[in-house]
Amino acid sequence: MTNNELITALNNALAWELRAIAMYAHYAAYVSGIHRLHLATHFNTEVTESVTHAATVRSAIVKLDGEAITERDPTPIVHTSNYQEMLQEAYATESKAAATYGSILPLVEAIGDTELFDALEVVYFDEQRSVEELRMMLKD
Ligand SMILES: [Fe+2]
Repeated sequence: MTNNELITALNNALAWELRAIAMYAHYAAYVSGIHRLHLATHFNTEVTESVTHAATVRSAIVKLDGEAITERDPTPIVHTSNYQEMLQEAYATESKAAATYGSILPLVEAIGDTELFDALEVVYFDEQRSVEELRMMLKD
């Protein structure tokens, strides 16, 4: 395994974080109905979390002497003002993010950088918590 493989994987994760920032900011602006009261705040919190995750991943790429991408993942962001649809989209996004970090961790372990592993494991746990949180929010 070369660092290039890991840098590519990290750039993929970064692209998803940049997309998550755009998605949550969009949904915070458009969420309507009574649930706007708490979901707008929740989505804005997710924007902040995604910015933090993106910063962690970017730092990792810098540490590995790679070049961090600046474009978001091109997967379309569904436009809606319906909170159920938003939560479905958020669930899909967080599941994708959790899977992405899950596949990155073994690559980081392989290069033996424990500091980097620790930093990215924290992000992985955040994503897993988000998936579980959304699963509960989507329940009747
Ligand atoms: Fe994230």
